[in-house]
Amino acid sequence: MQIIEVKDEQAGGKVGFEIFKEALADNAQVFGLATGSTPITIYKELTASDLDFSDKISINLDEYQGLAGTHEQSYRHFMEEHLFNQKPFKESYVPDGLAEDSKAQTAHYDALIAEHPLDLQLLGLGQNGHIGFNEPGTPFDAQTRLVDLTPSTIAANARFFASEDEVPRKAFSMGIGSIMKSKKILLVAYGENKAQAVADMIEGPVTTDVPASVLQNHDDVIVIIDEKAASKI
Ligand code: GLP
Repeated sequence: MQIIEVKDEQAGGKVGFEIFKEALADNAQVFGLATGSTPITIYKELTASDLDFSDKISINLDEYQGLAGTHEQSYRHFMEEHLFNQKPFKESYVPDGLAEDSKAQTAHYDALIAEHPLDLQLLGLGQNGHIGFNEPGTPFDAQTRLVDLTPSTIAANARFFASEDEVPRKAFSMGIGSIMKSKKILLVAYGENKAQAVADMIEGPVTTDVPASVLQNHDDVIVIIDEKAASKI
């Protein structure tokens, strides 16, 4: 793992942007994208740039079950607002939160990833060490599936909803198995509330208790962290 410590999210956005730029120069075709507050500064840099993704493919990590893509808190909506509207891709995939047949939907998503192997996967980090919505205990070879969110994730994400009751209890998530197949992985984490997960991810044992620790087994991972997120390493 290559660890890059930055002063703050703005600086992290610039470093992350450079990694996207290098990937494009390296002929990357498929970009795995993430939601949450962490990637926002990278998306800001991307939208302000003249980089062209109009012949590239993006595949997002996850989506809440039960939310339409037009719902303000859906991850599809988030991506449109923060990136796709200003910087379109040829094709952009996000799981369909309203899919009635969840098995068919997860199989379809896995087929998509197999057809378009990921060149660069961007990841945030959950306070409990989750990546995507792969919560602690997820097997490292997991494929796309419908997952139950943990109480800590529901509480952490409640800030985006009117109340905790409105946070969906389940989500579709790309599996750790697919994430690990990406050629390159960029994980970004900011703030004190990520410090323990960052330390466990980098220095702890590789264990399903800390899903992000699996990244120690990948040979091309870049981690961008700010000083607060780095405070326990
Ligand atoms: C959610 C997302 C993750 C994200 C995490 C951290 O649970 N499913 O992909 O990494 O939140 O979010 P934030 O970046 O807002 O701290």
